[in-house]
Amino acid sequence: MEKIVILTGAGISAESGLSTFRDEGGLWAQHRIEDVATPEAFARNPALVQGFYNARRVQAAQVQPNAAHQALAQLQRDWPGEVVIVTQNVDSLHEAGGASGVIHMHGILSGALCAACGHRWTAPPEMAPDEPCPACNAPSGRPDIVWFGEMPYHMEDIFDHLTTASIFAAIGTSGEVYPAAAFVHEAQAAGAHTIEINLEPTGGGFDERLLGKATETVPRWVDRLLMAKT
Ligand code: OAD
Repeated sequence: MEKIVILTGAGISAESGLSTFRDEGGLWAQHRIEDVATPEAFARNPALVQGFYNARRVQAAQVQPNAAHQALAQLQRDWPGEVVIVTQNVDSLHEAGGASGVIHMHGILSGALCAACGHRWTAPPEMAPDEPCPACNAPSGRPDIVWFGEMPYHMEDIFDHLTTASIFAAIGTSGEVYPAAAFVHEAQAAGAHTIEINLEPTGGGFDERLLGKATETVPRWVDRLLMAKT
């Protein structure tokens, strides 16, 4: 049965009230990546980095999933084949919208990771600059987020899914960050039909584009897929 692989980015959570990175006024217009999103930044100024992610964690806890998150969860429930959601987002809005098995390739705000021993646990709402690891006691707790210069998570699984996909969709992502930006080519090479769903076209070379707000376009796309199956 046809397998659908979906890559999502910050654009799918924008209408829930979370900032994107590269749109006007986005997070990277307000903060320098090299100050808050690299291992070097954390080593230099853990308070600044923890403060940045603490603020995002608090904000993410206050927002609700939108119609796009919910439509993808419905697709997972009603599509006769497998629907794999890979997200670059560190919020949990896919799960809150009812999706399951979501692959968080850039980590998750609700997670903490010990930089000393690799232990993982649930992050408190506010992490301290010297957050102690509950396993080894080192003051090395960090957000379980993939920073620039680090390897995204679950890459082997993701490539396995891409090479067996019949349909690949990229939703609300600018295609500026690798390796996610190359997923479309991987899926295309494996014979998948590729579709971009975004406010505006990016340079990805997709077979098809659906332009507009995610809360409108994603439910429309899901309805179209499910109608074609009945
Ligand atoms: P970006 O901010 O780069 O791109 C957001 C995309 O969403 C843009 O193409 C917008 O046009 C689109 N968009 C905005 N609002 C939308 C809406 N309501 N409906 C549909 N599309 C909308 O965010 P990402 O592509 O997710 O990584 O960024 C990728 C990675 O770069 C992030 O995971 C993060 C960042 O640096 C790390 O922090 C490791």
